[in-house]
Order: sequence, then structure tokens, then C-alpha cells
Amino acid sequence: MRGVGALIGLGSSLGDRPRALELAVRMLEADAHTRVVATSRTWLNPPMGVARGAFLNGAVRVETEHSPRGLLALCKDIEKRVGRRVSERWSDRVVDLDLLLMGRVIRRGAALRLPHPHMLQRPFVMTPCLEVASDFFHPLLRCRLDACAKDASAGLISFGRLPQAFANVGGSKYTGAKTTAALRGDGMKIFIDTANIDEIREAHAWGILDGVTTNPSLIAREGGDFIETIHEICQLVKGPVSAETVSQDAEGMIKEGKLLAQISEHVVVKVPLTAAGLTATRALSDAGIDVNVTLIFQPAQALMAAKAGAAYVSPFLGRLDDIATDGVQLIEEIVTIFGNYPALGTEVLAASIRSSLHVSQVALAGCDVSTIPFKVLSKLVNHPLTMSGNAQFLADWDTVPDNDIAGQVTRWLGKRSS
Ligand code: E4P
Repeated sequence: MRGVGALIGLGSSLGDRPRALELAVRMLEADAHTRVVATSRTWLNPPMGVARGAFLNGAVRVETEHSPRGLLALCKDIEKRVGRRVSERWSDRVVDLDLLLMGRVIRRGAALRLPHPHMLQRPFVMTPCLEVASDFFHPLLRCRLDACAKDASAGLISFGRLPQAFANVGGSKYTGAKTTAALRGDGMKIFIDTANIDEIREAHAWGILDGVTTNPSLIAREGGDFIETIHEICQLVKGPVSAETVSQDAEGMIKEGKLLAQISEHVVVKVPLTAAGLTATRALSDAGIDVNVTLIFQPAQALMAAKAGAAYVSPFLGRLDDIATDGVQLIEEIVTIFGNYPALGTEVLAASIRSSLHVSQVALAGCDVSTIPFKVLSKLVNHPLTMSGNAQFLADWDTVPDNDIAGQVTRWLGKRSS
């Protein structure tokens, strides 16, 4: 099972600082969807801003199944549980947890900015970060952390370390079968384009599913309770699940989006590329909610959605092909434009996929995600030549006198160890 690697900075300037940081790390480790992979030394740093106490800082490298929104919420919750009260910027605080990096995710909303915009300029952040995650990739500078920040520990005083030993280090604490949080660096993500839970369950069992897209037509086709369906899909897939708003005005979209986002941290709110959709995208992304802007048919529409803060844009290639226009070209152009402006951080999600050929074409174009109907996914895993080739191998193998592979290997291993 894969999780996403993330980097969290910790600081405390009030009360028993080592104890507050220790508690925070233990709470991160106690979370069912997060595993602490490495912890840094702690560093004393002179007071800043209106704070009067020296800050004790450290960093934790985790692996997590959470969405960016979910991991941020976990950090905020831990701050509260350790005893942080609302305080002004740079004032003394019992504990501070800053989400610094999460895989290659880029987010530009007011509530969540990834990578953390000031991390590289702050020695008290970078010194512990380099201890635990020098190999992490900075998606804006496009280099490893140890290449974009050198040791800046001068002026800081090493003062102890964060707790290190955890019972499950090295093992997997995740109990679900598969995580879905592939990074962009892991290749094109595969989403399934359906609201049918049996189809989702089957594709999920193949171990290749990163997320799900639904739309009102797909939901209507399945019948059943919309909210329960979305909840069940999120529980199963634990990756981005698009749920579409139906209001046509921005206010209604924002209201529906904020409500849909409460079903699960994995819900991505889908809005159409309209003027109201752009307004809603800006408001929802500023609130830390990932938005998928859908029904995109021109490259410049995708650029507008990205500028409004969309986490995903969904160009519909099949529907363009249907009207004798090259849908793959649309994908190629959007990928090129977004490549020109990598700081946008918006992922290109190829939608309205009609064939297995489309899947390879969008991967060749360098698309971040393709959302594929179950029918097309099934064709990929049931290719007639794969099937007939496999049948021939089995028929030939049947002519081998001792053709029990497991038995043969077990006997062979037994002989070697005796
Ligand atoms: C994606 O999010 C859309 O729901 C979907 O891909 C639309 O595909 P269609 O054109 O086959 O309806």
C-alpha cells in the first residue's frame, strides 16, 4: 500500500515546549491514516515577531492516506488538542504544525498553500527538514530539497530531538487494501468514471485506481442515495472523488460545494466552466477545498479554471471527437500550456474517454489523470490477444508431466535447505 509522503514543520514557544512537540508527534502517529517515517532533532530559535519565548522547532516526515485538506485538518486538530489557542501571527504558541510539502501537490488557495511559501527562507524550518527529507522534491523549484536549500543551522542551537521509535515503523498500519494517492511522479493517475460501486470495487481490487469521477448523469443512472453513494466510494477508494454541484449560480455552487466537501475529506467538488463556476472555484479553493472544473472544450477555458485555483480541469475529448474535432489535440494543448506555467499546479484530467486508444494517447500527451469508464478499463485487462496467448500457454503447460509449480518449487527449496 502506498501513501503520499508529506513534511510537517513543528514549533512551540510556550510552556513545556519539548513535551508539546512530543505530544504532537505521537498524535500524528496515532492517526489511523498516517505513519511517522522520520523525526528530526529539535532546534532552539530566538523569538520572532511579538513572541517572547524562544521557539523550539522540528520536522516530521510522514506517509499518509489523507487528502491535502484532510492532512491540514489533522494538523489543526492536533494543535487544538495539544492546547493551542487562537493567537496572532508570530505570537507565542503552545504548538504550531505547518504542512510544508505533500508529494508533488501544488495548492494556491488562501487556506492551504503547498509547498509552504516561506519554508525555504526559514533556517529554523529548513534545518530540521533537511534532516528528515533532503530527498523530497520541491514541485515549484523542481529540485530536491537538498539542492534548493543548503544547511542553514548557523545561529540555531540543537536542543534534543523529537520522539523516534514507533511500534509500527517499517510495517504498514493501513488496513484498507490499497491507497490511491499516486503522485504525479508515479505516472498518469487512473480514475474510474462511474458511480457504480461494484465497478469501482472491482477496479480498485486491481490495485491501479487513484480516484473516481462522477457526474449527475452517472449518479442518476445508478439510482440510490447520492450522498450515501459518494460516501461509500470515498471510504473505499480513499482518493479524490469528484461530486458535482447542480446550482447554476455561484452562491448556490459554493453552498453545495461546501456541503459536499463535508461528506469526506476525499470529495473534490466539481463545477462547470461557466462564469459562476469560476467564481465558485476561487471561493472553494480559497477555503481549502479541491475543485474539478468540468465541461472544458477549449485550452483557454482550462487556463481560466487554473487561474481560479482549480485542482483539476476536465477537458472532454470524446465529446469533441463526436463532433469531428480532435479531442486529443485539446489535451495536448492544455498539457503544453500548463507546462509553460508549472506554478499553476492544476492537473489535467482527461475526461470523456471512449477507448483504450484514448488512454494511451492522453498518456503520450503527458496528461496527469485520465478518468476511464469501466467498459474501457475492462477491455484493457481483457485484450483478445492476451486471452488467447494465455490459453495457449496453459494448453502447452498441460502436456508437461509434473506441472504443479508450487509443489515443485517447495520440494526444490526443501532439498536446498536440507
Ligand atoms: C468526467 O468527469 C465526465 O463525467 C465524463 O468523462 C463524461 O464522459 P461522456 O462524454 O462519456 O459522458
